[in-house]
Amino acid sequence: MLTHRKVCTLWLLMLLHDTGSAFKLSFFKRNPDPQDGDVRLFGSKSVSQGRVEVYHEGKWGTVCDDGWDMAEAQVVCRQLNFPGAKSVIIGNDYKQAIGPIWLDDMKCEGTENRLTSCSFKNWGVTDCSHKEDVGVICEEAGTDTNLTPIDSTYSLDHTFSLSDELGQIFDSGDGCDFLILVQRETGNRQENGSTETTICTHKLILSKFPLFNASEEITSITVSISQACQPHFNSFLRYIYTRKIDVTFSSVQCLHWMASKFGVKQLMDETGRMFTKILPEDASFHTQVSLYEYANETGDLVLQENCIQFLAWNYQNLTESPAWTSLSFGFLQALLSRSDLVVPDEYFVLQTLESWITEKGNSTSLESQVDLLSRIRFPMIPAEKLYELQSMSSLYSTHKAMYRENIFKAFEFNILLFSSHLSDPKFNKDDDGYHPRIYIAKPWSTDIDPSRVVQPDPVPRRYPTYNRHEYYDYRYQQIYPVSTVSPNGQTITESFSTPIHNSLIFQDKTVQWKANVLKSQQGCSDHGLTCESFPVARLAPQSHTRQQNVLFRNQLLVMCHGKYISQLQDFKDNMAHTTVNETHVVAYPCPDDQYIYRFVVRPDYN
Ligand SMILES: *[C@@H]1O[C@H](CO)[C@@H](O)[C@H](O)[C@H]1NC(C)=O
Ligand SMILES: *[C@@H]1O[C@H](CO)[C@@H](O)[C@H](O)[C@H]1NC(C)=O
Ligand SMILES: *[C@@H]1O[C@H](CO)[C@@H](O)[C@H](O)[C@H]1NC(C)=O
Ligand SMILES: *[C@@H]1O[C@H](CO)[C@@H](O)[C@H](O)[C@H]1NC(C)=O
Ligand SMILES: *[C@@H]1O[C@H](CO)[C@@H](O)[C@H](O)[C@H]1NC(C)=O
Ligand SMILES: *[C@@H]1O[C@H](CO)[C@@H](O)[C@H](O)[C@H]1NC(C)=O
Repeated sequence: MLTHRKVCTLWLLMLLHDTGSAFKLSFFKRNPDPQDGDVRLFGSKSVSQGRVEVYHEGKWGTVCDDGWDMAEAQVVCRQLNFPGAKSVIIGNDYKQAIGPIWLDDMKCEGTENRLTSCSFKNWGVTDCSHKEDVGVICEEAGTDTNLTPIDSTYSLDHTFSLSDELGQIFDSGDGCDFLILVQRETGNRQENGSTETTICTHKLILSKFPLFNASEEITSITVSISQACQPHFNSFLRYIYTRKIDVTFSSVQCLHWMASKFGVKQLMDETGRMFTKILPEDASFHTQVSLYEYANETGDLVLQENCIQFLAWNYQNLTESPAWTSLSFGFLQALLSRSDLVVPDEYFVLQTLESWITEKGNSTSLESQVDLLSRIRFPMIPAEKLYELQSMSSLYSTHKAMYRENIFKAFEFNILLFSSHLSDPKFNKDDDGYHPRIYIAKPWSTDIDPSRVVQPDPVPRRYPTYNRHEYYDYRYQQIYPVSTVSPNGQTITESFSTPIHNSLIFQDKTVQWKANVLKSQQGCSDHGLTCESFPVARLAPQSHTRQQNVLFRNQLLVMCHGKYISQLQDFKDNMAHTTVNETHVVAYPCPDDQYIYRFVVRPDYN
């Protein structure tokens, strides 16, 4: 039971906790929380000297002395609003640090505004020990002028340790007065003895969130939590005390759910924002799929679209992932309806669907199978693959009539569309079947990887067959160029050609394309263009005979580290702007902005 003293201690802690942060915000106007890249001087009694520590990923860490001299010290002191640096302290003169060593091999010019603008290895990459932590002594303002001293304010901030103390109170359960009985959501079938647990908490702390019902007269509640989320409930409650929590992609969804269930808004917002950040991180695709289902359940349309769009763009990887065969019928329905599926060609979509259906065996009814198969855009399947479809398809014999009808429709489109039957009402423009998705098989796309471009050879080689600017694609028996870069380095160029349309009668009519990545205004000026932001991609036809009813809806795919598609842009007037910096909202983030640009030619029947 609660003793009087304990209640008082709790009140005091709560009071400190709240007023502490309010103070910082409204009175002192100091940064309420350190931001990534902030520095401080630690471990001495004077504010103007100490061990250099830098804040990153929620932790203060130290800096190794390798490469450290006055230039680096100047940057630190000025970042802390001191006029400059007096000296550098190498070695561990201050109390031994225990956190991470964040920075090593620092190289500053001395003019940077922030230490993290200087070059260094990478966060946390180091071969140093804490013995090599660096310290500085900064010059203090006014020491050599005779200004009257200003009455200055020092804010003491002990909220960090307060948070730990509250965590200990939660862990020990000392003086707790509010029981939470946790049971599994699907009833209380107690297979192995007990699946229920009881956690003893403090009314006083939970009362901040009314949805816990921790009011005067109630002493316990029962909550139902899914089996998957049960392991995270304890750390969720601990967060209520400490406002600190580690979130991983296996826990983020549960924490979001709990936060919304109990009205813990800040945690809900933060975890919500984490969703799109973590989407690219899980190569098994389980996270993306379960987030999608979660969004569907909770009616979160934005999250739902975010998830399915990522999966459509990265459909190829999804089909190779462990999550593929566990996808639900409804999910596949939604996915196959989209025009932004990025795939080699339409035949690939059919093959992956057939393998999904075969894998599911009898659990998908014939009716559902037909529903899914009818979402395949047969007229878009390359003609040569239509011929082999009958013998290669694993479901042809099961759905003979359906396949036959669609193959016929496809041949008709291939042969008749642009001839005398142009106005045939059969080729209904609203029918998705006649419109492409995003097909990337050669020759329909080409990649520019800015990190792998080459300068053209000044002297032509004697044997040009295996020129390093070209490579030979055996499948298409064609030579393709490797990207080249202009002498001023600002334009990367690649030329390639495609047929006018993927249907049979256009196979020999080609369009020459020139793809550019323009890195600066200089690059744009070289092409007589004015550009708004950089880099910008350009894809322009060089020569071709216009074809009635064919319209190019070309697309730029921006691939992060060549691993996943993080942006998809339309070309407007042959130009596509990419969003590569922090001020612009990027659909799915990419660390370091290391992109490969994939240009996709997309002739559409108009
Ligand atoms: C039940 O307990 C047994 C052993 O005590 C364990 O092997 C099994 O995994 C448990 N089952 C569940 C559903 O917890
Ligand atoms: C809180 O009380 C309301 C109304 O009595 C009830 O609907 C809700 O389920 C309770 N919440 C919890 C977590 O027990
Ligand atoms: C997608 O597949 C490619 C090729 O297999 C692979 O290199 C890449 O890492 C994959 N991306 C993800 C996010 O799994
Ligand atoms: C969304 O949820 C509803 C009902 O929970 C379900 O019927 C539907 O199939 C789901 N949609 C998708 C696309 O998974
Ligand atoms: C599917 O059902 C048929 C009969 O309807 C049965 O012969 C066959 O073994 C089943 N296949 C699987 C994989 O369950
Ligand atoms: C981000 O891009 C915008 C417009 O493209 C540009 O104005 C801005 O300077 C860029 N910011 C950084 C940090 O590169």
